Amino acid sequence: MTKIKERGEVAVQLNHLLDFGEMTLPEWDGLYQTVEQIIDHPEDFLDACRGKVLATTFFEPSTRTIFSFQAAALRLGATYISFSDPNNSSVSKGETLRDTIRIVANYTDTIAIRHSLEGAAKAASFYSPVPIVNAGDGGHLHPTQTLADLVTIRRRIGRTEGLSIGLCGDLKYGRTVHSLLGAMTRFPGNKFYLVSTPELRVPRYVIDILEAGGHEYHEVSTLDECIGALDVLYMTRIQKERFASEQEYKSQAGIYILDGEKMKKAGDHMLVLHPLPKIDEITDEVDLDPRCIYFDQARYGMFARMGLLLSLMHKGRLSPVYPESNVEEMRCHNPKCITNHERYLPQRFIRPERNPAELRCEYCDAPARL
Ligand code: NCD
Repeated sequence: MTKIKERGEVAVQLNHLLDFGEMTLPEWDGLYQTVEQIIDHPEDFLDACRGKVLATTFFEPSTRTIFSFQAAALRLGATYISFSDPNNSSVSKGETLRDTIRIVANYTDTIAIRHSLEGAAKAASFYSPVPIVNAGDGGHLHPTQTLADLVTIRRRIGRTEGLSIGLCGDLKYGRTVHSLLGAMTRFPGNKFYLVSTPELRVPRYVIDILEAGGHEYHEVSTLDECIGALDVLYMTRIQKERFASEQEYKSQAGIYILDGEKMKKAGDHMLVLHPLPKIDEITDEVDLDPRCIYFDQARYGMFARMGLLLSLMHKGRLSPVYPESNVEEMRCHNPKCITNHERYLPQRFIRPERNPAELRCEYCDAPARL
């Protein structure tokens, strides 16, 4: 028992997990070691978080993420409280995110939050006396899916560096793509193939990360152009709910479909990952191909969340920072940024390390319009 606590404590120093980029690589390594121990000896962890309570506050739909957080808590001996329909909470009465978080934190030891607005988890972390985990903030980031992806890659390939990685589908709105690209650029020698239509290319801030780090990347429009060269193919669905209109969505749907013919062009060692849910981008026959490991990936995701919760749930009460605005007369222009919906939030901009000449919104990463 003591042994398990010590393992958890060394893994993650962070108080919140908002973006995988905030975790140091030694922290990631420590977390991965813990996750491997959990995968191989889950019975050793049955009481590791006994008495702790997780909140899953989901303002946006989810099946696997919410269940995997809840299952992770239960498998550590913790329990959980939850809402997944904000219409059934005080949010529908007009409560601010700040107050919802302050209240939920009174009852719990860690809060996992999913929200349709970008930067919502960051905003929550400013006011929360318990650790906040970003379980997806709009089209922005999804760091615990990234943990699931990294655990899958490391466990099945043995490394996270020196790989050729293809990402295909909705690279614009797919938050799992943004998080994974940010993470994989931190390991040396990875090469990226970005497969999308011109309309669904990755956002500029992600391209900036690739360019600032001098990473080899190719933006291509067909899978055929790269599939034979890949170690990992990360398929994604077109994010219907994030399009301005049904018509815009329809113009992009069904363009990339991974079928048996395409899989014949891939190497025997290539692994297909997908954050799920999948819609029509992978045919049923391909599901049975042993190179497709997305259902295992979802299970690794639960173990990854167990490793994370093991570290966070023992942190005790934190002192929230309540920051002030660090700019004058400037607002974020991203209409999906949380600061444009929860107006009490202080406007905050940062100069990213990779490009200090620039100013970006600290919540959603949108570039400042000066
Ligand atoms: C993803 C998400 O919510 O961003 N799902 C998940 O958490 N596994 C991917 C998606 O919805 O397409």
